[in-house]
Amino acid sequence: MFQYHCLNPIAEKGLGLFDEEYKKSEDLQECDAVLVRSAKMHDMELPESVKVIARAGAGVNNIPVKDCAEKGVVVFNTPGANANGVKELVLAGMLLASRDIVGGIEWVAKEKDQEDIDKLAEKQKKQFAGCEIMGKKLGIIGLGAIGAMVANAASALGMEVYGYDPYISIDAAWNLSRTIKHIKSLDEIYSQCDYITIHVPLLDSTKEMINKEALDKMKDGVVLLNFARDLLVDEDALIEALDNGKVKKYVTDFANHTVAGHKGILVTPHLGASTEESEENCAVMAVKEVRDFLENGNIKNS
Ligand code: MLT
Repeated sequence: MFQYHCLNPIAEKGLGLFDEEYKKSEDLQECDAVLVRSAKMHDMELPESVKVIARAGAGVNNIPVKDCAEKGVVVFNTPGANANGVKELVLAGMLLASRDIVGGIEWVAKEKDQEDIDKLAEKQKKQFAGCEIMGKKLGIIGLGAIGAMVANAASALGMEVYGYDPYISIDAAWNLSRTIKHIKSLDEIYSQCDYITIHVPLLDSTKEMINKEALDKMKDGVVLLNFARDLLVDEDALIEALDNGKVKKYVTDFANHTVAGHKGILVTPHLGASTEESEENCAVMAVKEVRDFLENGNIKNS
């Protein structure tokens, strides 16, 4: 949630916070600007007064961007403001998929009342043995702020990093992250990498890009990470790939009925940007963008 001091500078101009509690467009009557995090705005009727919407986050798939463009409503996002928060959760996801930290913790919680838990633990720990990520190949699909940060961090942990992004040149990718050794085609990422992480926006062209055809090209036992958007992955094809061993683990930040509870899936409830730092960075960036637009007419993503 945004701090009041962030809102103050433009409060006179009228600014609405749109979140799950603010379902009705009446809540936004008279507002010039709307700040939104993850609430879906597609079904709401936007009051005439709204001139600008700022998404406190990178993805804008919860905002009807096309309708906004037709009505002349400016839409901002906050690129990079939460990238470090997401990067850290991706790293945690890679480690959780490689070491059975969750299984070990659950075992201790279950057996905590056993007097000889230490002896029991020595006997049981074999079942929680894992593997190391150092030396493994990581494929990063999408080399924006998050992808580049993941590349640098994974490289520092000793991984061999491959990157793919159709929208940036090899030089640009190299400048973003000096640790990407090769920029390869998607097929090469699929066929060579032990870990694959997706960092692309949800667009018509990227929807279900990880489908059966893509999964079939991947190495047996690949670990797939999706902290971008759930609809990038065809979840039926994914479940099949998990059940036949093609995918060893799917780590995702998007909980739903299909993925929750499957033993090959580690799922968190969209926590990537849920850190004090990321929330503050996004809020401040969004408010600055909105203020600069309302006060100076500037349309500039920070
Ligand atoms: C993003 O698009 O950056 C995230 O969805 C932000 C969030 O978790 O709210």
